[in-house]
Amino acid sequence: MKHTDDLLVVSDDEFDQVLDRRGGDSTKWNKYEGRDILPLWVADMDFRSPAEIIEALRHRVDHGIFGYSDIPESLVEAIVQHLFTRYGWSIRKDWISWVASVLPGVNIAARTTGSEDDPLIIPIPAYHPFLNVPGHAHREYVPLRLVKNRDRWEMDLDELDQTLARTNATMVLLCNPHNPTGCVYSRSELEAFADIVLKHGAFICSDEIHCDLLIQPELTHIPIASLAPDVANSTITLMSPGKTFNMPGLNFGFAVISNPTLRRSFRENRLGMQPVCSPLSMAAAEAGYSHGQAWLKRLLTYLRGNAHIVLQKMRSLEVPMTPVEATFLAWLDIREFELKKPVQYFERYGIGLHDGRDFGDEGFVRLNFGCSRSTLSLALERFEEAVNAIRQEPRSHHRLES
Ligand SMILES: Cc1ncc(COP(=O)(O)O)c(C=O)c1O
Repeated sequence: MKHTDDLLVVSDDEFDQVLDRRGGDSTKWNKYEGRDILPLWVADMDFRSPAEIIEALRHRVDHGIFGYSDIPESLVEAIVQHLFTRYGWSIRKDWISWVASVLPGVNIAARTTGSEDDPLIIPIPAYHPFLNVPGHAHREYVPLRLVKNRDRWEMDLDELDQTLARTNATMVLLCNPHNPTGCVYSRSELEAFADIVLKHGAFICSDEIHCDLLIQPELTHIPIASLAPDVANSTITLMSPGKTFNMPGLNFGFAVISNPTLRRSFRENRLGMQPVCSPLSMAAAEAGYSHGQAWLKRLLTYLRGNAHIVLQKMRSLEVPMTPVEATFLAWLDIREFELKKPVQYFERYGIGLHDGRDFGDEGFVRLNFGCSRSTLSLALERFEEAVNAIRQEPRSHHRLES
């Protein structure tokens, strides 16, 4: 897979703005309330949603009545259109099932694709709440280690084949694009993956929440269910506008399931567990999918610049990192420093990262670069200071006590 190294770092008045999220309801910022620590951990961005979404919300709020709400046909059409225009994926409206957000969808999928004795397979490192999904469904999971090859984290398909044969797992959890490694799987990778899973009669739960955030322009996202009808038949795809338009707090998501039996079962497992989508989240989702594309294009240009800046900095510091193909998350290999508590160590230098241990990979941290460039520059200066300090005093208290 090619990576363009000469990406332009384009500025943008809107995304360059530093918005003060302190003292409000932001989970990301409240973690460090009253401390000079830049939060680059949880996966939301410090950007306002597109003006079209804000306007649609204003309009809906002005209506003033927030009763139980039906999903408008226009929203369903906007989603169908979005998937077709962006991915050439033609879905039927009735394939869609609503979920409060993607993570509940993954949990419902785990209850739908097997019973308590059936394990499921999770590629590691993994978006950390995935690791709780099997337990919630009273199921076990078998980790499948992703392998770092050259500049990408790839699935070991022989290992997947053997694991499926050995464990009789009934579901494999795919995350594409992958959080935390930022990988986008190619058509051939997805085909080979699907062949193996289907050969063993297992289901695929494909979390594609980051699919609209491809920051390498030469790459395309391929919904795995769009490969072929038999793949679709065994797949539960989960998507949402949450990451795309930076509105995860509004809680909105959907599953696409073409197999009627699987869909019925998914809906049965959802019964009584999920609120009806809120009218505000529906208004925002529809506005985003219908009118947010120009904003999204600018966002991707900006994120591409940020990804480039992070990569250059890590290269100059000789901190290994694979180029980010999608998402606004960088996966940094800091095993060299042997930090017992990496998050606390970097916090001392004023930067809040996410511990790779939570994702199943000790010695890594995840850095969220979905922020203004000035915030990112300051964070990277602090990161550099932290790295220099530990390199200058490798046997210092940092390593031992932290
Ligand atoms: C891969 C992945 N899946 C699911 C989620 C959570 O999505 P939601 O907020 O829609 O439940 C995230 C959030 O970071 C994520 O990265």
